[in-house]
Amino acid sequence: GTVGAAGATGLLIGAAGGAGIAAAGDGSGTADASALTSVGATEVMFHGKHQAGITTPLQARGHLVAFDLAPGAGRKEAAALLRRWSATAKAVMAGRPSTGDTGIALDAGPSSLTVTFGFGRSFFDRTGLTARRPQQLDPLPAFSSDALDPKRSEGDLWVQIGADDALVAFHALRALQKDADGAARVRWQMNGFNRSAGATARPMTARNLMGQVDGTGNPKPTDADFDRRIFVPRGGQGAAGAQEWMAGGSYAVVRRIRMLLDDWEKLSLEKQEKVIGRRKADGAPLTGGSETTPLDLDKFGPDGKTVIPDNAHSRISAPEQNGGAAMLRRPFSFHDGIAADGTPDAGLLFVCWQADPLRGFVPVQRKLDRGDALSPFVRHEASGLFAVPGGAAEGEYVGQRLLE
Ligand code: HEM
Repeated sequence: GTVGAAGATGLLIGAAGGAGIAAAGDGSGTADASALTSVGATEVMFHGKHQAGITTPLQARGHLVAFDLAPGAGRKEAAALLRRWSATAKAVMAGRPSTGDTGIALDAGPSSLTVTFGFGRSFFDRTGLTARRPQQLDPLPAFSSDALDPKRSEGDLWVQIGADDALVAFHALRALQKDADGAARVRWQMNGFNRSAGATARPMTARNLMGQVDGTGNPKPTDADFDRRIFVPRGGQGAAGAQEWMAGGSYAVVRRIRMLLDDWEKLSLEKQEKVIGRRKADGAPLTGGSETTPLDLDKFGPDGKTVIPDNAHSRISAPEQNGGAAMLRRPFSFHDGIAADGTPDAGLLFVCWQADPLRGFVPVQRKLDRGDALSPFVRHEASGLFAVPGGAAEGEYVGQRLLE
């Protein structure tokens, strides 16, 4: 099988009840599929307890798209749209044509395509479902370093597309955009990428555009508390926030984080490593060991200072420094050319997943905002918070438990 090698990342594939992945490599699949390379043949299941695209290994290509419902469209139109979208997602994730197919993905296999659907705060007012809006969708607090563009933030609906082939991802994007016709229109779209599976000799944690190994500290699906941290349990989250339709779902925080690469690249290697608290070459903590060695936050150097500086990003964001707050970071890098100021319009489409943003993103970002050594080199330019319901059961569409 090729499942383990499919993702060049530190993310593992959900073992119990997660979105399943079927790899049709080495003759184990159909005649057609086995003719494909392992990259093309890898299929992620649409149906499952959780939607695909959360614990799925990072893909090489991604599109994040927010839609607003069209004027006059309400709950009925939204339900019909989610039904169409789910049917399309199921088909294209299996490598089958969609209704009125464009042919863009002909010849390619599923290529680990995932499509993930979420609801923004405004969706609930637009559809008359305000009473069922989870408290977890309350607006994120403003942070002092925010430079957010409202036109590229939030939205009624959110779709995350990921695939290990750019044409397969674009094909899915076009099909979903056409499905939306008349019911919803694109509010914003962001395009991203990661390293391709197979580009490294063995599966490795990805690097971001600052060159850092990024993703090491992520919770692993094999951790005992992984599900509790990342997915909404059955029975809701206590009286106030309880929303049974979100069982098996998760909350996605999306931030377009521009990297000020011209400034960053002027720093010496030593300074760059102190900003994070890890070695650039292999991601190992500055206190020693290998990538997966825990940080020694209490170790002092000969200069009497902590070896991992007090403002190092990996110290400030560590769960043990934040009352256990944890999130699953699953980003794409972006590069949209050169901005008006002459610097690269590049950075991180930061996407993080958690059962409750107030136990994940919010407390960590609050602390980072107060003095993270990385802050002078990044700028948060757009933000979104979305409720991503659990996966659709066979015969169901995503969001059906809310919309029917
Ligand atoms: C860790 C980079 C923004 C939360 C790391 C690491 C790097 C990194 C290199 C160390 C390796 C690892 O554990 O993955 C960046 C860059 C950012 C960014 C370049 C912006 C462009 C953020 C934001 C948050 C965040 C906005 C959340 C509010 C974390 C967490 C860890 C981490 C939770 C793991 C800490 C641990 O488990 O010890 N980041 N980060 N990061 N980052 Fe960021």
